[in-house]
Amino acid sequence: MLRTHTCGELRPEHIGQKVTLCGWVQNYRDHRGLVFVDLRDRYGITQIVFNMAFDDEMQTVARSLRSEDVIQVTGEVVSRSGNVNPKLATGEIEVVARELVVLNRSKRPPFEPSSPDLPNEELRLRYRFIDLRRPALQKAMLLRHRLTKATRDYFDRLGFLDIETPMLGKSTPEGARDYLVPSRVHPGCFYALPQSPQIYKQILMVAGYDRYMQIARCFRDEDLRADRQPEFTQIDVEMAFVERDDILDVIDGLVAHLMKELRGEEVSLPLPRYSYRDMLERYGTDKPDLRFGLELVDIGDIAAECDFGVFRKTVEEGGRVRGLNAKGAMEKYSRKDIDGLTDYVSDFGAKGLVFFRVKEGRLDSPVAKFFSETHHQAIIERMGAENGDLLFFIAGEDSVTSAALAALRNRLGKELELYDPNELKCCWVIDFPLFSWNEDEQRWDAEHHPFCYPVVEDLPLLDSDPGKVRAQTYDLVCNGCEAGSGSIRIHDPVVQQKVFGLLGISEEEAERRFGFLLEALRYGAPPHGGIALGLDRWVMLFSGDDNIRDVIAFPKTQKATDLLSGAPSPVDPHQLRELHIKVDLPGK
Ligand code: AMO
Ligand code: AMP
Repeated sequence: MLRTHTCGELRPEHIGQKVTLCGWVQNYRDHRGLVFVDLRDRYGITQIVFNMAFDDEMQTVARSLRSEDVIQVTGEVVSRSGNVNPKLATGEIEVVARELVVLNRSKRPPFEPSSPDLPNEELRLRYRFIDLRRPALQKAMLLRHRLTKATRDYFDRLGFLDIETPMLGKSTPEGARDYLVPSRVHPGCFYALPQSPQIYKQILMVAGYDRYMQIARCFRDEDLRADRQPEFTQIDVEMAFVERDDILDVIDGLVAHLMKELRGEEVSLPLPRYSYRDMLERYGTDKPDLRFGLELVDIGDIAAECDFGVFRKTVEEGGRVRGLNAKGAMEKYSRKDIDGLTDYVSDFGAKGLVFFRVKEGRLDSPVAKFFSETHHQAIIERMGAENGDLLFFIAGEDSVTSAALAALRNRLGKELELYDPNELKCCWVIDFPLFSWNEDEQRWDAEHHPFCYPVVEDLPLLDSDPGKVRAQTYDLVCNGCEAGSGSIRIHDPVVQQKVFGLLGISEEEAERRFGFLLEALRYGAPPHGGIALGLDRWVMLFSGDDNIRDVIAFPKTQKATDLLSGAPSPVDPHQLRELHIKVDLPGK
């Protein structure tokens, strides 16, 4: 080893010892005959002192040190007595250097990993090797490692087998675009990178591996957001001979284990389970942030009677009028702030935002005059309103009021500091509809994927009223984030055929796309189900980050490029020839 200790290790008990440290020069200060260097590695920082009196030559080299040079220092641990630095774990000691070896020089870094000012993300991603030296990213990588390890330990204890599934395979049914890989051996044929191991894990159930888990890489060519990457990692799980609640129980246990291992917190189990309908009604979304209340309230019946045209007409046309009560927020939002909120909800389809300030037991608003005294009182009562409250209402289609009020609720929750940002609050959302109606293509879409089993008592509705069929699917939601999703699968070929029919997938197409799964299901498929948790999202939640790129060592940008390596990039023409591929770019 080139070192005896790490830069985060030395304490007063080491005083008097001769040690050798290696690391990066974080800081250099020249101070009346003494040169001070903060030496950094991923374990911490140790102050090194070079004393002019000892060695002239060493002193010259020490003076030449610059940010991010890599050095080896041998010296004696001494007490900092009067100059203790309470901010450093090693702050009670320093190392007086006797030997200095420059292991490597660094080019002038484009930014300092220790600087509190973050450079722009593009620069950080391009020089990711420097960015990864920052304590925040080191912390995230450590957390990711611990979360992954705790997850494997948990499933290992329960008898799950960790089985790898192929990267080069056939298209899977998660609904995003595939990343394709051309085959050289079979010209004109392509593999698809897995959007998830979905089909393989179901086949493993048919094969008798009744408890499977994998930390699996998934690839999806879709629009990227703050919580989405084209290449991400799932904690993927499948079990045979189980019912829905067995899977929820196992994952409850995982959540409790992670909370205990990583945060030292006890979680009371089972995690609450709510129906999809209930969540849409109360929070306007199937992934509610349950750290705070601020529930949505329907005033459709009152709106139907009032003289405010927007409200009355909406109800007459079958729409809804819903709102929420920002308790005590009357003074916190000026007219201009409310205009800002109105713009904000318009992004979610709302045509406007009505507000009422509650003053002296009445509603105060530019539109208050359209409401009679009875209506004022009815609204105040329905909203549980008191003087000082600020009420917001949106009129429109059910889905618009949901989406816009859910967004408004999240924003108000944050701005009014209605929750502790460090808290993690998880719940299950169950009983999703099996299908959603695709207006453009005039057919049903699978709400999750085409292999989800309907709730057994709803099976007859497949023929009579497919929109009402509930699926045995479940989402694990944490702080408003979809942190996991799964279902009990169809193991009955007749039901599967019927579902494909409703999705507009013909028998031939089903055979072509998923034939190998359908065939396997005909050879003694046990009842089975599973789930996948977004590992990156869990690390985000545990670290309090809201950018998924900050918990992935080498992430891609919103445009799916890797700024470090420059991927994707054109390839050699001879590679394309070997693959029998001609590139045909528009306009060239
Ligand atoms: P689903 O598509 O819902 O289900 O994915 C499961 C979980 O993976 C996470 N996730 C993502 N994280 C980061 N970037 C992405 N692009 C991304 N897409 C999804 C989410 C999500 O809840 N095979 C099924 C699971 C099953 O039925 O067992 C599946 O993949 O946290
Ligand atoms: P208008 O009739 O367009 O002048 O709107 C009068 C008020 O009603 C404004 O404050 C609008 O923001 C609000 N408003 C208009 N449409 C809606 C709607 N669909 N939901 C809630 N408020 C609305």
